Parts: sequence; structure tokens; C-alpha cells
Amino acid sequence: MNSKKIAGEKAAEYIKDGMVIGLGTGSTSYYMIEKVGALVKAGMKLKAVATSKESEEHALRLHIPTFDINEVPTIDLAIDGVDEIDNQFNAIKGGGGALFREKIVASHAKEVIWIMDDGKLVKEIGNFPLPIEILPYGYRYVLEQLEKASYLPRIRKKDKEFFLTDNGNYIVDLQLKAPLNTKDIMEHVMNITGVLEVGLFLNMCDRIVVGRKDHSIKVIENKYKR
Ligand code: A5P
Repeated sequence: MNSKKIAGEKAAEYIKDGMVIGLGTGSTSYYMIEKVGALVKAGMKLKAVATSKESEEHALRLHIPTFDINEVPTIDLAIDGVDEIDNQFNAIKGGGGALFREKIVASHAKEVIWIMDDGKLVKEIGNFPLPIEILPYGYRYVLEQLEKASYLPRIRKKDKEFFLTDNGNYIVDLQLKAPLNTKDIMEHVMNITGVLEVGLFLNMCDRIVVGRKDHSIKVIENKYKR
């Protein structure tokens, strides 16, 4: 079994009957969604809110009752992947371009679990390009501001076209280096008109579940979540 599958399936053990589950996006979340599908098939009464169209389609294929985020009063548990995470539970997310929905689902959730293979654990985050979601209108201005701040922005492309998020926006990847001054970046980047969200998820999870190549699992509780 691969490490992502191990982590995804382990995290699903925290799901209880009657919960509203936030479904993450990406290759690790894929396995968790498969497991949620199996739980629903076995008779568990669950509701889900997906963080991307891809995950929503996956959930619907598995007959998981799926709702818009505005249709549920709360999210009991959100389970999602990460791109990089440090031992202070600060993460970079958005490699798949779903960072805005992932952040709003995580912010709304009572409990959050990040799932990953052990390659995602780093001493200091920042070497993975930091994704930010920006509105298409006036994007050149946003790029200029990011360039002025020496963030080395690169607008994400797919098949030679600008990559479009599920919200119809663009992603800009900042080519930074660890360690990051996360407070400065958040303040500076979020203050640029046209930026919707930054893929920094600072101390937002309750636990991480790490699958390893040797098939072992490490669960680390975050006692210091804000
Ligand atoms: C999606 O936008 C990302 O935040 C993913 O959660 C992240 O890229 C993890 O992806 P994998 O599980 O595919 O590594």
C-alpha cells in the first residue's frame, strides 16, 4: 500500500456517524474520499462539503451526499492534504490550485486533519512555490506589486493557457526560499488589491497523519492550535 493511501485511510477512522465532512483535494485526499464512500456504502449517515469540483465529482460518483458550504450549519471534520508542513503545523497548500476553498473549509471546520506522506514534512516551509489565488481583473498590476516585493511571481499555466481555479481565478506561484517570514508575507500579499488568498495555512490543523514508505503511520496531535 502506498504512503498516501495509508494516511488517507487512517484519517477516515476519525469520522463518526452523523458528521459533516470537509473533503480535501489532491492525490492523498483521493484515498480518504474512497474510504468515506465505503463508510457511506456501509450505512454511515454522512454529509460532505468538497474543496474542489474534482473532489465533489469523486464524492458524487461514490454516492456521498454532497452539499454546498452554505447549505450546512457547520463542518465537523475537514481532512485534506498539504504540500509542505513544519513541526509548528505551518503548511503550504494550493499545489492543486484549490487553496481558497480549502482554507474556507478548514476555517469553518470544528476539527482539521492534514494527511500526507513523509516527504511533506520539512524543517522549514518555503521551498515549495507558494501559491496565491488572484482575480483575473487587473492581474498585471498584482504581478507588478509581487515583483516589486521580490517575490518572483510566476503565473500558473496549463496547456499554454492560464490555469483557472474553480472560482474562475488565476494562481500565481511565488518562488521563495525557506525560512519564510510568514507574518510579513501574509500582511504584504493580502494587502495587494486583487489577491484573494495566500496558500499559507498557519497552525490551522488539530492533527497530522503521516503515512510512511515502510507502511507505518505517525499521528501527531497539535496541542497548540490557535
Ligand atoms: C490542493 O490545492 C492542495 O492544497 C493539495 O491539498 C496538496 O497539493 C496535496 O496534494 P497531494 O495530496 O496530491 O500531494
